[in-house]
Amino acid sequence: MADLLVLGIETTCDETAAAVVARAPSGAGHILSNVVRSQIADHLPYGGVVPEIAARAHVEVLDIVIADAMRQAGVGFGDLSAIAAAAGPGLIGGVIVGLTTAKALALATGKPLVAVNHLEAHALTARLTDGVAFPYLLLLVSGGHTQLLAVEDIGRYRRIGTTLDDAVGEAFDKVAKMLSLPYPGGPEVEQQAALGDPDRFSFPRPMMGRREPDFSLSGLKTAVRLEASRLAPLGTQDVADLCASFQAAVVDVICDRVRAAARQFRDLVGIGPTALVVAGGVGANESIRGALQRTAAELGTRIAVPPPALCTDNGAMIAWAGAERLARGLTDPLTLAPRARWPL
Ligand code: KG4
Ligand code: ZN
Repeated sequence: MADLLVLGIETTCDETAAAVVARAPSGAGHILSNVVRSQIADHLPYGGVVPEIAARAHVEVLDIVIADAMRQAGVGFGDLSAIAAAAGPGLIGGVIVGLTTAKALALATGKPLVAVNHLEAHALTARLTDGVAFPYLLLLVSGGHTQLLAVEDIGRYRRIGTTLDDAVGEAFDKVAKMLSLPYPGGPEVEQQAALGDPDRFSFPRPMMGRREPDFSLSGLKTAVRLEASRLAPLGTQDVADLCASFQAAVVDVICDRVRAAARQFRDLVGIGPTALVVAGGVGANESIRGALQRTAAELGTRIAVPPPALCTDNGAMIAWAGAERLARGLTDPLTLAPRARWPL
């Protein structure tokens, strides 16, 4: 059997991305190209993603991004096994642009369409980068999602925990905004935290010690807001110390929730996870990665975190999830509808 060769298209948020990925019959993956065109500059003046601007920007650049991905991979449309696109969840205008483009390409080339759940793509990336075997414990932490899942197989995801309010990335973004740091806030808060004192403020660690592996971050966010307004006007060191103390609280909460999830995983699945996989944009955070590495070791498992460029939104994860589904014979009709909401 020959390798599967899949084009993947990602347009669910503020990155216009396309990639070509190969999957060998052994299950090994290989990225031939991975082109990401960020819209950060378009949204910067508004301090966050504006859905209508995002959709229009995807329309403007998606064909160029796809052409680049195909050229860099050195393949033609005739060489592809399938065309995959994220069909949700996400900002519906953008999802429509990516999915409709994929359908048009599938129709024109006669190749099958694979509709990919964006969250599933984050969940499966570690199989591409680290060859992780099922079942594994997944911590999915992005701007829109915070979930702990038992990943038992393609299409078999059991949610163990979730956030009751803000997503972790969202909390980073909101803290950045209240401290007047630019969007997107996660990387900015991390940079500031590196210059600050994590012990200056003792912020709450919501949900710590609870049996259920859920998250709640709004109380922590409010505590940062109150401290910031108490100190105003903020000096450079205040901002760094607030970021460091906030990040330290997030790290403690995440590690504690992962420990709780690992206990539930054993009860649910019957065996321990082959790995703790971290996915989503927040996985790019070095402090969080480092702390989770220690937690995984404590739990007697290993950690697998895709490199930062594959943790944040990209086309390779969509192409890879498409290839994994295609290998199982899973394709989709051209009538498939895009979905703004699509839980795993
Ligand atoms: O997965 P992703 O690229 O897009 C979504 O599907 O949401 O994640 C973006 C989120 C944003 O909230 C961003 O602030 C956060 O990931 N993020 C970070 C870091 N890099 C990105 N959060 C903390 N530290 C970082 N270094
Ligand atoms: Zn994402």
